[in-house]
Amino acid sequence: MRAPHSPPGDPVVGNAIRFARAPLDYLDTIRDAYADGILHLSGMMGPGIYVVLDPTLVHRVLVDDHDRYRKPQIRPELVDPLVGEGLLTSEGDHWRRQRTTLQPAFFTSRLRGFDETIVDFTRATTATWTDGQEFDLYRELGVLTVRIIARLLLGVDLSRADAADVGEAMLAVGEGLAVSPGGVVRPPWLELPPPREYQQAIRELEDVTARVFAMHEPGGDDVLSLLQRAITDEPDAFPEDELRDQVMTMLLAGHETTALTLTYAFFLLSQYPETRTRLKSEVDEVVDGVPGWGDLAALDYTERVIHETLRVLPPVWAQFRQPLADARLGDYRIPEGAPLMLPQWAIHRSSRHWDAPLTFDPDRWDGRRPAEVPAYFPFGAGPRACIGRQLAIVESKLILATVLAEWDVEVLDDEVPRRAAITMQPTGPVSAVVRRR
Ligand code: HEM
Repeated sequence: MRAPHSPPGDPVVGNAIRFARAPLDYLDTIRDAYADGILHLSGMMGPGIYVVLDPTLVHRVLVDDHDRYRKPQIRPELVDPLVGEGLLTSEGDHWRRQRTTLQPAFFTSRLRGFDETIVDFTRATTATWTDGQEFDLYRELGVLTVRIIARLLLGVDLSRADAADVGEAMLAVGEGLAVSPGGVVRPPWLELPPPREYQQAIRELEDVTARVFAMHEPGGDDVLSLLQRAITDEPDAFPEDELRDQVMTMLLAGHETTALTLTYAFFLLSQYPETRTRLKSEVDEVVDGVPGWGDLAALDYTERVIHETLRVLPPVWAQFRQPLADARLGDYRIPEGAPLMLPQWAIHRSSRHWDAPLTFDPDRWDGRRPAEVPAYFPFGAGPRACIGRQLAIVESKLILATVLAEWDVEVLDDEVPRRAAITMQPTGPVSAVVRRR
């Protein structure tokens, strides 16, 4: 068996520190040279990080051998108060029960009825725009996707102010959870109290969650109603305080990734005007008035634009796992408990897997099913793949088509600086101008 590769590092603190100083840039420097293997980033403390760059080994961890791995507890002092034991973070039987209970809220039969809500909220947003107006596109889309997810998954109508609070809190949370040199060299047992801004963000999210509970009417088939029934039927299996964790999980996991996808799509479309023109032609051809479920199949180029955005600028830049016992992964030996990084950011952008990987070219998806491409996993893979992936695609397509039917959106900057937190967030405002078509 082979030991994972180890690129040159800092003589004292290893190479994890190089990664931690600029994670996405660092992954860009190693993604091609080590594309067929595993890389070990040694740190000053603990076992370091094992970066899995071979897509077949990623598949092994997430799909074939998924029961030999778990999600590591990264920064539990920050993550526990945020999403606790919700679907994103729970493990074992507890996770399985939650997933089975919540799955019906995401069935296609239910998604079919979502189109009107998505389109109505989008049109209510664009109705507030004026020709030539400039604003922070990420914040605007964040408010929209929070309100959509609250309506569709939690059955409540959140105000714009509440939705904006959720978006702001997410940026503070992202800053707190971003990969940093201090986080990498710190010994794993040292838990520092959350920074003040982070605690404040959690309090704001809890206030909004309390308003969700106050407004919610039980008895529907939204996530909250499904859980309330499970708590009544099986009180031992579903503790009541899990409700709060699950609402936080849905609000956060359900809105931010979609807002990022749309922000990055508009950014890339601004960089590639010919692609934007072609996309608008498709929307004009397919959509008669407002888009709906019946238009989705014909919005084929729109879907390719979304897939390609998720490849070039994946909102989830990496996933993490750890082996439950000493593991063999391909030819490599990984010690029990060592953190594994499975980086979409590096694998989606490696020239070993893609022609002209940094070129935004939706046509590369022509006649190609994303699920069959091993080097592409924006929603993860295996039993813990994203529960909201179908919803995310439907929602992104409908929002893009609704906006583009009447508006041109141009992101003004040639670069969107980003940080690697749980998601890949912009570090500042994403300035855009909207013009009526
Ligand atoms: C483009 C948008 C989205 C992207 C790129 C995305 C990405 C992902 C990824 C990569 C994972 C796997 C994490 C891991 O295994 O470590 C995941 C899980 C999850 N996602 Fe999404 N997601 C998106 C939209 C959504 C939406 C709309 C929801 C709605 C609630 C959602 C809810 C979740 C939940 C609850 C999990 C945990 C599932 C489990 O462990 O059983 N996501 N997502």
